[in-house]
Amino acid sequence: NEGALWGGRFSSGPADALAELSRSTQFDFRLARYDIAGSRAHARVLHRTGLLRDEELTGMLAALDRLETDVLSGDFGPAESDEDVHGALERGLLERAGEELGGRLRAGRSRNDQIAAMGRMFLRDHARVIAERLLGVVEALIAQAEAHPRAPMPGRTHLQHAQPVLLSHHLLAHAWALLRDLQRLQDWDARAAVSPYGSGALAGSSLGLDPQPVAEELGFVEAAWNSIDGTASRDVYAEFAWVAAMIGVDLSRISEEVIFWATKEVGFVTLDDAFSTGSSIMPQKKNPDVAELARGKSGRLIGDLTGLLATLKALPLAYNRDLQEDKEPVFDAVDTLELLLPAVSGMVGTLTFHTETMAQLAPEGFALATDLAEWLVRQGVPFRVAHELSGEAVQVAESRGVELWDLTDQEFSGISEHLTPQVREVLHTFGSLESRSSRGGTAPSAVAEQLAELKVRLGPV
Ligand code: ARG
Repeated sequence: NEGALWGGRFSSGPADALAELSRSTQFDFRLARYDIAGSRAHARVLHRTGLLRDEELTGMLAALDRLETDVLSGDFGPAESDEDVHGALERGLLERAGEELGGRLRAGRSRNDQIAAMGRMFLRDHARVIAERLLGVVEALIAQAEAHPRAPMPGRTHLQHAQPVLLSHHLLAHAWALLRDLQRLQDWDARAAVSPYGSGALAGSSLGLDPQPVAEELGFVEAAWNSIDGTASRDVYAEFAWVAAMIGVDLSRISEEVIFWATKEVGFVTLDDAFSTGSSIMPQKKNPDVAELARGKSGRLIGDLTGLLATLKALPLAYNRDLQEDKEPVFDAVDTLELLLPAVSGMVGTLTFHTETMAQLAPEGFALATDLAEWLVRQGVPFRVAHELSGEAVQVAESRGVELWDLTDQEFSGISEHLTPQVREVLHTFGSLESRSSRGGTAPSAVAEQLAELKVRLGPV
């Protein structure tokens, strides 16, 4: 059976149904580049250990180079008879190096340590791409914040008007969350930088191969200290899938707001034509599909994580074939984010904010009632009393169908002698915004400091 890596102890080949079930080349062949890099490093350790002569190493490396060229050009690909990427590449190597030389490479390694290492290499590379694209979204949020340094908007809790905030403050709240996701990708890499190569099937190698130089050649920091852990653990994949899901969830929260802001009723933003879609029947439609796909794909990313965790649950050590199911969820998470992130940064970066509408609505719905209460506190009134008095003012205004600043001096003094006409100094948006000037607050001065700090922290990314 050409392309099989086992067979000696079997008197018949696999049933078609098994071969089809077993085959993983349709998704794992994308690891070919990493498998070939692993083979080069493995050939060198075999040579260092005296298991390949000088000219054998040269011949092996030349054959691996040719194989890689053919894989990259598409001239070499998996065949029906190949079980997985490792089998396919061994067939390709034998075709190029000959059976005698090619057949020496597999000494001291197993597909179990190979696949565990290849997956980590793939994820580490893609984590960097994802981090870069995530940075693109953070930069788009920062650019919008910088373009609107003093634009107020209604700050909401429970989706109800709560207190006025700066649009820039709100946008940067999303940026901080994404910055933490970026840091998570970086922290994760420290745990992913451990190489399972050399763990063999589960117990290590009897051939005296030193896994540390192999690890270093493949970009890892160190080789695994436990070969069972090296071949059986997938927590590094699961953690990656969790970070990916968290990024999806954070993007979905931005997206939900964009969808809401773009409604006729809210009218805070207009989407750029390049980042919105039309309807096949309703000529007037302009739909926030990027945001909706981000919201939808966050569900998919959560599914990738939970699917992987369900595969891992209760798996005994060491390798089990169940682990072949580890790849599609993380591949899907990588592909989903790499596709999604540029679209989200484009959408965010091209939003037009209707700052007049936002500014007009910012103080409405009694959003300055807290300012009124805190003004009373500054006049010496206990907050418990101030809260009550401000609540009464809201009640009077609501019964008249007006806002707090529309109340007359008489109405104010009728509620409390403490409510002198001076209270009007806080009954406007900027009075409220400027007053929240301590660290993390929404005052323009505090937001400027926040932005500077955020940029410092983004620096070494
Ligand atoms: N294709 C397998 C995987 O993706 C690696 C091969 C290990 N197979 C085995 N029977 N030990 O995990």
